[in-house]
Amino acid sequence: MRTSLEGKTALVTGATSGIGAATAERLVGLGARVIGTGRRGERLEAMRALLGEDFRHARLDMTDAKAIRNFAGDLPHAPDILINNAGLALGLSGADEASLEDWDRMIDTNIRGLVHLTRALLPGMKALERADIVNISSVAGSYPYPGANVYGASKAFVTQFSLNLRSDLAGSKVRVSSVEPGLTETEFSEVRFAGDKEKAARVYEGTDNLTADDISLVIADLLTLPPHINLNRVEIMPVSQSFGPFRIAREG
Ligand SMILES: NC(=O)c1ccc[n+]([C@@H]2O[C@H](COP(=O)([O-])OP(=O)(O)OC[C@H]3O[C@@H](n4cnc5c(N)ncnc54)[C@H](OP(=O)(O)O)[C@@H]3O)[C@@H](O)[C@H]2O)c1
Repeated sequence: MRTSLEGKTALVTGATSGIGAATAERLVGLGARVIGTGRRGERLEAMRALLGEDFRHARLDMTDAKAIRNFAGDLPHAPDILINNAGLALGLSGADEASLEDWDRMIDTNIRGLVHLTRALLPGMKALERADIVNISSVAGSYPYPGANVYGASKAFVTQFSLNLRSDLAGSKVRVSSVEPGLTETEFSEVRFAGDKEKAARVYEGTDNLTADDISLVIADLLTLPPHINLNRVEIMPVSQSFGPFRIAREG
């Protein structure tokens, strides 16, 4: 038996593109009322035009702690579903060359913003009859690759924070899931490569990659499972993506 999302309120961060936009659209399609956030107001307006009055929105920069506090405080009630999706990777330079500014922004968005919003909403969500938190982590949180450094570490944080939330929420009716996608074509690589569309396109060339819609399907699937089932971690890759051998540096 599937759980209905009819009439539930879902807050989706980073709803202006990619996985967040696809998830907002799918949840509205399943009868939920969605509040979508992001920095790009025109994108939020376009989502509203597409999805109608079941999509409400607010501009919110996840690196702005005060704005997060005010936003959460202004909500009329706690959401039934929180999708902590907003996030980004910046650059692929090695750790000895990477930009500290990029590192700070990834930490501020992927970690600090996510925990601040969660902390602000959690008391209200815990008081609900039941609630869901879905944190968008990444396979990069489990498997290192050259240049992932702080991005990968930030996603390892998201996964571990999700598991620790489950511990703290023991006995409550709040489910927590860490969703960990692999290669998914969105604006992710364009952001990583500072707007270089050609470089970004090459990441997905010939790969039969996952799409944002695929990830939204998995998110909707776990949200509609019977309420006593908690998927702790869901790792998703396209069939075309798998694992390489360890690299061994040899002398001589
Ligand atoms: N695509 C992949 O291969 C992949 C794989 C694993 C995990 N992920 C994760 O999936 C999540 C969504 O990424 P995506 O692939 O859908 O990329 P995307 O298309 O670039 O979407 C990223 C979203 O995050 C929002 N965002 C970024 N910085 C923000 C900030 N400071 N404040 C508020 N919102 C912010 C963006 O909105 P604005 O720019 O409008 O603010 C946008 O809506 C991220 O957490 C990413 O790490 C992606």
